[in-house]
Amino acid sequence: MRVVLYVFSGTGNTLKVAALYKKFLERDSGNTVDIHRVSRKNGEIPDPNGYDLVGVGYPIHGFSAPEPIIKLCKSLPAVQNKRAFIFKTSGEGLHVNDCSSQKCIKILRKKGFDVALERHVVMPYNMIYRHNDAMAKHMWIYARALVDMNCRELESGVREKVKQPFYKTFYCPPVRFLEQKFAHLHGTAFKVDPQKCVKCNRCVNICPQSNITVTDGKYKFGHECVLCMGCSFGCPQDAISVGVFKFWKVHGSYRLNELEKDENLPFPYVPNEAKGIYRLYKKYYREADAMLKKYGLDARDYIPCKNDIK
Ligand SMILES: Cc1cc2nc3c(=O)[nH]c(=O)nc-3n(C[C@H](O)[C@H](O)[C@H](O)COP(=O)(O)O)c2cc1C
Repeated sequence: MRVVLYVFSGTGNTLKVAALYKKFLERDSGNTVDIHRVSRKNGEIPDPNGYDLVGVGYPIHGFSAPEPIIKLCKSLPAVQNKRAFIFKTSGEGLHVNDCSSQKCIKILRKKGFDVALERHVVMPYNMIYRHNDAMAKHMWIYARALVDMNCRELESGVREKVKQPFYKTFYCPPVRFLEQKFAHLHGTAFKVDPQKCVKCNRCVNICPQSNITVTDGKYKFGHECVLCMGCSFGCPQDAISVGVFKFWKVHGSYRLNELEKDENLPFPYVPNEAKGIYRLYKKYYREADAMLKKYGLDARDYIPCKNDIK
């Protein structure tokens, strides 16, 4: 089976999840997976007609899919009943995020895609607040297990009606509209602190919208920002301020590959007795455990030091 994954990712979470899809799908040597990162810098979009299965991956922004992924869906050519699936990442597993794919699904179906499945993988927040290391490890290990499960579903042709609870389809479009318009307007409020900046140009290179330009050593942010946070999250000097989002800024990689092996971090971290903000995650992980169980899988088997094969 030939698979293409169209992926938008600001701070790397969705791309990491896409890499898991590639790893698990290619485990069966009959499959090949191409990952196309959605960015203004990445020229030609692979034609879905050359593939057996199409995946669309994105981070949830304001309960919806971000603008670049909606544009990607619009730009895809028509196909004939091409099997497709959606994977989305977000900072919390609340059902408030359930209808985020509404617009993408509508566009894809019109073009002839058969959207057979959608999976939601919770990953450490890149905005609002920083998850602690134990929570980040917990999320990452579950991400591996859930992607493995989803790959088994895809390989065995599972289809499922994508959940679109009626009452939730009302707030997604206005929130999406406001978030996307606001992103463009607010983008110019991002600033580089010249005292901290070492002019490595990482922000310029990472911006998927080519929205950051440098003139005479000064960094300028244009009107194309989609609030992906890639620039400020990844700045090695933490030199970028993010306007009104300053209290929600999260900076710096979670180093998931190190955390997953750290035996001092408890796993699982969201037990039934979880308190405070982590109570919000209990339901998501209860549901994840139930889905994994159907396939005879257990998230604990995905801790790399316990079982290096997975
Ligand atoms: C502008 C913005 C809006 C977001 N909105 C939501 C949201 O509505 N719900 C949620 O659970 N997470 C939200 N998040 C968190 C991201 O979806 C999450 O961190 C995601 O995994 C980031 O993926 P990426 O690293 O591929 O960009 C938001 C993040 C940003 C930057």
